[in-house]
Amino acid sequence: MFRSLFLAAAGSSHLERLVESVPVSKAVVRRFVAGRSADDALRVSRELADDGLAVSLDHLGEDTRTMEQAAAVRDEYVAVLRRLRDAGLTPAAEVSVKLSALGQQIDDKAAYEHAHAICAAATEAGTSVTLDAEDHTTTDATLETLVELRRDFPSTGAVLQAYLRRTEGDCRELATAGSRVRLCKGAYAEPESVAFQSALDVDKSYVRCLNILMSGEGYPMVATHDPRLIAIAEDRARWFDRSTGEYEFQLLYGVRPEEQARLAAGGHTVRIYLPYGEQWYGYLMRRLAERPANVAFLARAVTSK
Ligand code: FDA
Repeated sequence: MFRSLFLAAAGSSHLERLVESVPVSKAVVRRFVAGRSADDALRVSRELADDGLAVSLDHLGEDTRTMEQAAAVRDEYVAVLRRLRDAGLTPAAEVSVKLSALGQQIDDKAAYEHAHAICAAATEAGTSVTLDAEDHTTTDATLETLVELRRDFPSTGAVLQAYLRRTEGDCRELATAGSRVRLCKGAYAEPESVAFQSALDVDKSYVRCLNILMSGEGYPMVATHDPRLIAIAEDRARWFDRSTGEYEFQLLYGVRPEEQARLAAGGHTVRIYLPYGEQWYGYLMRRLAERPANVAFLARAVTSK
């Protein structure tokens, strides 16, 4: 109920204007987002690198309505990849890209070309791209784009969402040599016909998917903050004889930083998903939906202004 309320709010432009009119953005930016500019993204990437953490930079923008906006998103990624390389932050830093931000809903061919250009820039910078997963109506198109991109850029990463009933099958398809696969629970409001609804069913699906990825030949990227699932992933890595370079943990910037440090200190590769940019609203609503305590955090930020 709480979760669906915030996920519905993520799509409300009326509420977005309301939230934006409240001067909370600074506190919000500080907790979950690197900042509004590429300078902020580079500065925080450097700080995280100094703490032994890798990053996946996400330029916030899922509200692309024109192909001009889509081209601007492409240019932003190409530019930030060059800056990451020049700053010596690659290969540890990569980027995460939402195809919707590249215009997938408007012109999927052009969105593919933009994604291709970003992958080419990533290759030049010595790093890779991961294609974020969005709501289930886009899963087929995104995975088809992934297959096409991997022809030229085999290290392009996929994201699979354990809450979708189809995902075990997708894990089987993608657990192949060299295949980078980020497994997350899933952050969108999805109908029962396509997605498990209870937390327990989602967790069980996550473990089944983890078993497939860890026992397969690809490179699992375990994206969760859930202590039980992290412990199970550590166990499965031992069970399937994977060394620490043969999988990684991924966590969101601002979420469980003490766990990020603990995993890194234990010798694991830990990658922090680091968003930056002006369009923080949808991202923030999904983070609020994940944890009631975050609403108290937001409320404190508003009232302390
Ligand atoms: P769960 O939500 O059960 O949280 C477990 C515990 O972690 C909580 O009890 C709390 O302690 C802590 N926690 C979790 N979320 C928190 C928050 N927002 N604030 C504070 N504490 C929090 N989704 C998607 O649909 N497509 C995608 O491409 C991605 N990409 C992605 C990348 C990375 C690196 C991560 C970590 C996550 C994603 N996600 C995503 C989001 C993912 O689907 C999911 O919504 C969140 O990770 C929350 O789920 P957990 O697995 O953390 O478990």
